[in-house]
Amino acid sequence: MSRDSMSSLLITNARPYGEDPVDVLVTDGVVTSIGTGLDAPSDADTLDAGGAVLLPGFVDLHVHLREPGGEESETIETGSHAAALGGFTAVFAMPNTDPVADSAVVVEHVRRRGEEIGLVDVHPVGAVTVGLGGERLAEMGTMAASRAQVRLFSDDGRCVNDPLIMRRALEYASSLGVVIAQHAEDHRLTGGAQAHEGAVASRLGLSGWPASAEETIVARDCALARDAKAALHVCHISSARTIDVLRTAKAAGVRVSAEVTPHHLLLTDGRLTGYDPVNKVNPPLRTAEDTRAMREALAEGVIDVVATDHAPHAAQYKDTEWSAAKPGMLGLQTALSVLVETMVEPGLLDWHGVARVLSERPAEIGGLPDQGRPIAEGEPATFALVDPDAQWTVRGAALASRAANTPYEGMRLPGSVVATILRGRITVRDGKVQA
Ligand code: DOR
Repeated sequence: MSRDSMSSLLITNARPYGEDPVDVLVTDGVVTSIGTGLDAPSDADTLDAGGAVLLPGFVDLHVHLREPGGEESETIETGSHAAALGGFTAVFAMPNTDPVADSAVVVEHVRRRGEEIGLVDVHPVGAVTVGLGGERLAEMGTMAASRAQVRLFSDDGRCVNDPLIMRRALEYASSLGVVIAQHAEDHRLTGGAQAHEGAVASRLGLSGWPASAEETIVARDCALARDAKAALHVCHISSARTIDVLRTAKAAGVRVSAEVTPHHLLLTDGRLTGYDPVNKVNPPLRTAEDTRAMREALAEGVIDVVATDHAPHAAQYKDTEWSAAKPGMLGLQTALSVLVETMVEPGLLDWHGVARVLSERPAEIGGLPDQGRPIAEGEPATFALVDPDAQWTVRGAALASRAANTPYEGMRLPGSVVATILRGRITVRDGKVQA
């Protein structure tokens, strides 16, 4: 390529991982120089970071973008905007759409729409079973070999409850070199459940979702993954007891990883007293003891990553009585701030730690070789730029998602994403999407 057709970007006064300020020169999407007082080519675009913290772009292993079929709640386009504004450069879109993403046709559509929009790499997650029915394995091999190159399979929203189906899925996953992401919930223990089984649910008269319904599936799946020598990823861990199971399995060499959502780091079932369905989510908000255990396990690395479980629901699904409301909450634009509040400010994670749980480990688990990379010469210029001192008030109506179901409405949160850069292209500047 001739020098003339190269594109350059000079980022000035940025602090990689919160360290001393530097300039970063990017040429054709790759970091070509890091230092102080760097000169840019005359035609270079420039971005003054103003001392903000530079991190590798965030990778979310768990989002619901609702397309196809649920466009009243979110589309790949509105979800991509929300993701970019949240500092994300790659997201994994769950298959509980209509039609379900259980075939090459659907996963290729999702991948292609993501590419057309171009703000964030959208990786479709394939269903484990046909129609999420839990009975027949979907054509995982075909989806893996398709243009969408599916690397993560899940029936999220539903558990692969049948142990024999789960065993077969893990065996296929092992031979295909892909990962099974399990929504760990024994449905026979949670039938009709509306809230965490505990004192709050009893007082409110809501039927309980026992923590053991999560813990037992994780224990079972770790044994199955061990036998199949397969990679198992556990979605949205919510109970302190599950952490002990994970710790034991990891120590025994099982290939298991786990995620926690921002809401399970911050919010508890104490919020349920007003019966506001914005707080309804699956798995449910649990106790302060659980949130404390989640934070410690994330700091320790027993929980590998933060994933949002971004679950937009249009008003008609949420502005209804508790039992009829759909579970789920928005997460993409608030994830970084909740992590700053729960982990960075209390001293549980430094900025290297944030990069680990929001970028490096998720990219490894999801099999993305060009995401979650070190900030270094020769590496892709895929970044999130964070102002750690900013404070902002969350307003659901002002978020980019089509739905507004944020549980943080009116809350003041620390830390904001000021810019996002995907392979040298600025997707967000001054907190605004660059179309
Ligand atoms: O709260 C949730 N919402 N949990 C899930 O597992 C599914 C998700 C959704 O699709 O809305």
